[in-house]
Amino acid sequence: MDQLLVALDVDTVADASALADRLRGAVGGFKIGSRLFTSEGPAFVEALASRGDRVFLDLKFHDIPNTVAGAVAAATRLGVWMVNVHASGGSAMMRAARDAAHEEAARRSRPAPLVIAVTMLTSLDQQALTEIGMPDAVAAQVERLAALTEASGLDGVVASPQEIAIIRRRCGTQLAIVTPGIRGAGDQQGDQKRTMSAADALAAGATHLVVGRPIIAAADPRAAALRIADECRRAHAR
Ligand code: C5P
Repeated sequence: MDQLLVALDVDTVADASALADRLRGAVGGFKIGSRLFTSEGPAFVEALASRGDRVFLDLKFHDIPNTVAGAVAAATRLGVWMVNVHASGGSAMMRAARDAAHEEAARRSRPAPLVIAVTMLTSLDQQALTEIGMPDAVAAQVERLAALTEASGLDGVVASPQEIAIIRRRCGTQLAIVTPGIRGAGDQQGDQKRTMSAADALAAGATHLVVGRPIIAAADPRAAALRIADECRRAHAR
């Protein structure tokens, strides 16, 4: 199931590798975030990518355009399939990220990674936004940043399940929407506050789902992944 991406939120290459080996073929790719990357570095990213796995490098770059361009070029050299930045870094930063991905990929005659942007961290509520000088409603802020992402030529956004419909209405059908916070009826919520089932998130317009603990903490991760993949297929058949 191409749309299902699994967050390898573990500390060691040994654990991440064991998970990838169990899940390969049942899922559409692996997300490597700051936890594993900071522990183990880029070698594991490159190793997965070079064996043909789709890797979403989730480091949420947010810096001056020149620095972000260099980081995205480096991610492109690792062979990642998707990489992300913060939309609040602004349109010049996002365009620099996109251009770096395309230029570096062209130099190496390989496809450019998809470059997507985080609109608002889902951990920020209204009070936290006001605290940092953004008094607008969360939904309005997300909609504005998604539109800016699209206008900057990026391939998609990361958004919580509750924001999918707003973004899809504003941005049309071409923009990828990558959605974490996926939980089924029997799953623990953990620290996720605004969750949705895989089927409902796809129906709302998500193009990719990021699932961590419901798969990686399951007694049988492959069976858990296959169950969610099956739910996704049934959602498409509806
Ligand atoms: O374990 P769980 O399914 O909650 O994992 C979700 C993954 O998506 C984690 O890697 C988390 O860092 C990431 N994520 C998120 N919310 C965001 C952006 C990323 O949960 N807004």
